[in-house]
Amino acid sequence: MKTTTSIKTLAFTIITGTLFVACGGSSNSNSNGYGNDNGYSGSGSNIPYLRTNHANYSEHGSNSTPAPTKDANAKSINWTISATTVEGATKLAEHLAFMEAKLQADQNPRAFDKLFLMEAYMKFNNYYSTNVEQSSTNVIVSKNANTSCAYDVISAHSDAVSGDFFAQGDINNDYSAIAEGILASASCNAERASIEMYISQRQQTRGNNN
Ligand code: HEM
Repeated sequence: MKTTTSIKTLAFTIITGTLFVACGGSSNSNSNGYGNDNGYSGSGSNIPYLRTNHANYSEHGSNSTPAPTKDANAKSINWTISATTVEGATKLAEHLAFMEAKLQADQNPRAFDKLFLMEAYMKFNNYYSTNVEQSSTNVIVSKNANTSCAYDVISAHSDAVSGDFFAQGDINNDYSAIAEGILASASCNAERASIEMYISQRQQTRGNNN
């Protein structure tokens, strides 16, 4: 009897797992083998929700647009973002979990954009870490880099998130020129050759989304 139950449980797990992947809950790959995807606007990323509701987030304790607190010496970026509802905070926390999982899996959200490619390289190679905590309507994000180049990349990313994504719901800009400036700077002397190789292998043309 117990064996029958275990087999049924196993079969259920396999079937539901297969359905989850088939519905786009995981595993996103294409012909170049890197799992690159210009869009990532499907379920899980919550990008359409965040874009629509961008004005419903504020800096904790104020009515201002969320903005990072940066510490260049510590190479850290910290955010405390308040949503108007628990749902809003949960959608943002889910976005972060989704994106971090993509980067940890060596995938490239927004693969046309060199800034996002550099960030993916930095995350996958452990040049920075991300910590996310949600408490009711608040989301606290901490990013810590261990090289100046990685810090400059996460700093530029946070400016885009604050100034374009949160402030305007605008996700159409391409930050590649900013990335090229960072890559050409002395901060990236040690990593430059590897990053240039990575970008040449991973960059894709811009798709319809994002
Ligand atoms: C173009 C569509 C978007 C893409 C491809 C994208 C991708 C990403 C990635 C890759 C990260 C970094 C995760 C990590 O380092 O662990 C991130 C972080 C974040 N995203 Fe998005 N995102 C998009 C749109 C948005 C929108 C519309 C919002 C809010 C209105 C948003 C809010 C955030 C926040 C608050 C963070 C954490 C802060 C930070 O990384 O400095 N994102 N996103």
